Amino acid sequence: MRIATWIIICLAAAANAKADHTEAETTSTPESAAPESATERGYRLLTTKAYLPPDFDQEVFDELWRTWEEPLRSQAERATPAERRAMAFSRYGLTDAPGRHDGVALQYVDNGQGGWVMNCLACHGGKVAGRVIPGAPNTLYALQTLTDDVRVTKLRLKKPLSHMDLGGAAMPLGTTIGTTNAVMFGVVLLTYRDADLNVHQDRLPPKLVHHDHDAPAWWNIKKKQYLYADGGLPKSHRALMQFLLLPKNGPEKFRQWEQDYQDILAWIESLEAPKYPFEIDRPLAARGEAVFVSTCSRCHGTYGAEGSYPEVNVPIEEVGTDRARLDAIDASWRESYSATWLGHYGQKPVKREVPGYVAPPLDGVWASAPYLHNGSVPTLWHLLHPARRPKVWTRTEDGYDQQRVGLETLELDRVPAEARTPAQRRHYFDTRRFGKSAGGHLFPDELSEDEKQAVLEYLKTL
Ligand code: HEC
Ligand code: HEC
Repeated sequence: MRIATWIIICLAAAANAKADHTEAETTSTPESAAPESATERGYRLLTTKAYLPPDFDQEVFDELWRTWEEPLRSQAERATPAERRAMAFSRYGLTDAPGRHDGVALQYVDNGQGGWVMNCLACHGGKVAGRVIPGAPNTLYALQTLTDDVRVTKLRLKKPLSHMDLGGAAMPLGTTIGTTNAVMFGVVLLTYRDADLNVHQDRLPPKLVHHDHDAPAWWNIKKKQYLYADGGLPKSHRALMQFLLLPKNGPEKFRQWEQDYQDILAWIESLEAPKYPFEIDRPLAARGEAVFVSTCSRCHGTYGAEGSYPEVNVPIEEVGTDRARLDAIDASWRESYSATWLGHYGQKPVKREVPGYVAPPLDGVWASAPYLHNGSVPTLWHLLHPARRPKVWTRTEDGYDQQRVGLETLELDRVPAEARTPAQRRHYFDTRRFGKSAGGHLFPDELSEDEKQAVLEYLKTL
């Protein structure tokens, strides 16, 4: 498996070398407007600049429907091009960019030559209750399904495969809609770099613990000093550049693009949590705040004007949630990262040992369902009722459960037999699979049912 992965990565690197990779910004600054601020530039770069080779072109995208299972394929065949595009967006978890209703999705950048280039918003920009919010986790992204369909389509059209097509054949990209194996992509890619980020393709990756992760909400990054579920890496714009480590991007690109990522981080840190758009029972929420402060604040902090965030890392034995993510990245990986340009050559020290997961800020928590780092718990009600969390669940695309605060879900005991194809099965979150446990975080168990209801109401106000 290790060797297979390595061969595929090398193939991918070779494919990249041939890929037509444009680096030009495809739209320019509007000339009439006031000078662009760092945050505005950050958002513009995120949505317009291609930092990677394209994953596919428009022709491939328009032909994807031919790979779909019935009855979808026949429905697509009868549909207008606009309807077919909407069906494809729905299947792959893509959305229009706010204010834009043509061209590529928010989650990709147009490279100016018809190529679709993945951007950060692929995982970090999605719909919440049907509304597109850049910076909200894209909990509908179907990266594996998209990549599988793209590969089949390219082979049929005799088009060259890209890094994603080859990488996706060697390692899992994401086994449930809305979550990805992104953490392991980073581990593989860093293997091929020395401290200055020169590429060495003769190296073997370490043992990989493939597992899926739910992207965290970006509006909470301003509160953090350290990044990721385990809080292991110091916050820095350079950490954000791990996504660019495809061998095609040589060490000079990282220096050249550094300012871009300072601005992208500035935009990310300017984000505010979205406000809960439905009704809130204010007196009940006020009672919930008192319960929250006495039970939850020691880990999750306090909110409002005087709020404070302790950023505590809770030992895995105490939090008890799935441990695959913790085990997947060890101290030696963090130290190798730290020694590189990305880690400021050790000048911004990583946390060598991390006992467990960091209790995240809960601002806008209503909008970041599903919960826990692996996205295993569909609503806040389930988070507060550990014994009632579903074994298997599936969600609607745009529904929002206002009673239980979170995704509108159907709960099941097992993945139904009608889900025949891998693409269909990825719509079911099966908590019995590796890395997907919904157990742990039993802290709410000390509350009475009334107290839980009050805390649930309070969480809507954050
Ligand atoms: C394929 C999906 C994917 C893409 C693309 C992606 N990310 Fe992420 N990102 C994740 C996941 C999953 C995590 C959580 C990892 C963890 O906690 O270990 C994450 C974590 C982060 C964090 C830390 C968040 C926190 O609260 O600690 C930042 C910052 C971040 N990503 C920025 C970016 C930027 C900037 C880009 C583009 C250059 C990007 N990401 C592209 C999936 C993705
Ligand atoms: C001992 C520390 C601790 C206490 C006490 C605690 N939590 Fe947590 N909480 C955590 C940790 C750590 C996580 C992240 C676990 C993970 O992702 O695996 C978490 C995750 C969560 C999440 C999911 C956040 C997300 O975006 O996925 C919610 C919601 C939450 N806690 C609410 C509460 C509430 C409400 C209380 C009080 C009843 C509480 N917590 C008490 C440590 C704590």
